[in-house]
Amino acid sequence: MFEKESLEKIKQLEEKYEKKVEKLTQKYPERKKLFKSTSEYEIKRLYSPLDLSDMDYEKDLGFPGMYPFTRGVQPTMYRGRFWTMRQYAGFGTAEESNKRYKYLLSQGQMGLSVAFDLPTQIGYDSDDPIAEGEVGKVGVAIDSLKDMEVLFDGIPLDKVSTSMTINSTAAILLAMYIAVAEKQGVPQEKLSGTIQNDILKEYIARGTYIFPPQPSMRIITNIFEYCSKNMPKWNPISISGYHIREAGSTAVQEVAFTLADAIAYVETAIKAGLDPNVFGKRLSFFFAAHNNFLEEIAKFRAARRLWARIMKERFNVTEESAMRLRFHTQTGGSTLTAQQPLNNIIRVTIQALAAVLGGTQSLHTNSYDEALGLPTEESVMIALRTQQIIAYESGVANTVDPLAGSFAIESMTNEIERRAKEYIQKIDEMGGMVKAIEMGYIQKEIHESAYKAQLAVENGEEVIVGVNKFQIEETIDQKKVLKVDPELEEKQKQKLKKLREKRDNEKVKKTLQKVKEVAGTNENLMPYIIEAVKAYATVGEISNALREVFGEYTETVII
Ligand code: 3HC
Repeated sequence: MFEKESLEKIKQLEEKYEKKVEKLTQKYPERKKLFKSTSEYEIKRLYSPLDLSDMDYEKDLGFPGMYPFTRGVQPTMYRGRFWTMRQYAGFGTAEESNKRYKYLLSQGQMGLSVAFDLPTQIGYDSDDPIAEGEVGKVGVAIDSLKDMEVLFDGIPLDKVSTSMTINSTAAILLAMYIAVAEKQGVPQEKLSGTIQNDILKEYIARGTYIFPPQPSMRIITNIFEYCSKNMPKWNPISISGYHIREAGSTAVQEVAFTLADAIAYVETAIKAGLDPNVFGKRLSFFFAAHNNFLEEIAKFRAARRLWARIMKERFNVTEESAMRLRFHTQTGGSTLTAQQPLNNIIRVTIQALAAVLGGTQSLHTNSYDEALGLPTEESVMIALRTQQIIAYESGVANTVDPLAGSFAIESMTNEIERRAKEYIQKIDEMGGMVKAIEMGYIQKEIHESAYKAQLAVENGEEVIVGVNKFQIEETIDQKKVLKVDPELEEKQKQKLKKLREKRDNEKVKKTLQKVKEVAGTNENLMPYIIEAVKAYATVGEISNALREVFGEYTETVII
């Protein structure tokens, strides 16, 4: 990007600069001997054109909306449409969550994002003994289509896009969403939204897995195929780096392991006969935004360019729109502190700004009280207002990819891409991501990074304001922490009992039998799961039918 002669001149100037630094630091040494990123590479004192001497604008940057998409996935980005302000929400019963969704939409939220409770996520009904104490806790309790009808009551599904954070039971909840829309008179081809449906990161970091890898990958591919044919506006997967980062990975590992998961999904879908030029258009991704502002912006840009190159060079994709890495971002939950909770508003603002300057398509901003409990209406509104102030008042949404060409940002973008590629190379040599997970390699890498990061906080090398520096005496005002109704579990069990008495149990039995049969073949399971949910078979019943055929996954123990 720079002429040879000018680089020579800059080189001479740099030598003069280095001498000045040398002289000054004898008297005023810098704060640290070595400044490192969270991904362990050195942060230079100063970046200059000399750091970008190998860069080619067309090959490495290009224009927004065009390969390699470094500068964004849309030609006009936020000038054409802001990112979707999409707050992850859900707790208690479907009634309570429905109320929260309507509140968020009334405050200007642009898309829905459903948090399900753990029993729903791992395929148990609320009255299953294993669900005891978890019903409605970390998300909304959904047992049957009845609950889904209540969850979206009064919300027109042809007017809003809905994300569902659901993985092992994604096929069941997607089937319920299709059935609810049908009852609203909305055909499935009109539905826009996303299911997370990313089982590999569940094995790596999040844990809401049910079945072993092979049957899980089969269900995921069934969903890809079903959505490609019937739901052109639906994103059948949200390949997630968020939970990998939250488990303690570095930014480089977050990119590398997420894209390695994505490679595994693309390979599996191609083996099942699907065309990456078609399903590639609807792959979506999900990353965290942590505190290291410059590194996070560079991380998003590196991920976008690396994915475009992987789709074009590794999978010979020709459709440019199938090379775009469209992603959602959630500000880093693990960076929230219980100490001086209002400080979290500033952390979330910095992280949200990084996501926007990194070109996110959709964004969730954490509420300041989430280190203490689920967000209250007041705290979730501040979180949403944070996005609205960045969008409408900061000006950063008025020009596309404003930090491009920054010597520091472009250098970090290159460094993150280079290191992520090295990891992907290593994973390829191990036989791919599923193998690397089964060997415990990925988990071990993350645990090591998490350990190092924790050590740095404990020895004070890494400062967390209010936690290991600038502490104050304070007490938590429990009255302000949102509590889930303790009667909820009983109420949910009563609802289930009534449902089982009222529904046509013969029909339920038949549909479950069919699901079991098809699970043992190569047929697409989706149409049969849709029939089962329409008969009001429950999440637990359908999951148990599949458990009988697929068995359950047992985690690799890492020593
Ligand atoms: N000009 C023209 N058109 C534009 C535009 C522009 N500048 N910007 C956007 N558009 C269009 C898009 O092309 C799209 O149209 P299309 O569907 O016909 O292509 C439409 O406007 C909507 O834009 P996006 O698709 O960019 O935005 P969405 O919000 O609809 O989708 C996504 C974003 C990332 C692709 C999608 O997958 C998504 O919404 N993901 C959200 C995932 C999520 O919320 N996950 C939460 C997980 S919570 C969790 O797991 C954490 C917990 O465990 C703790």
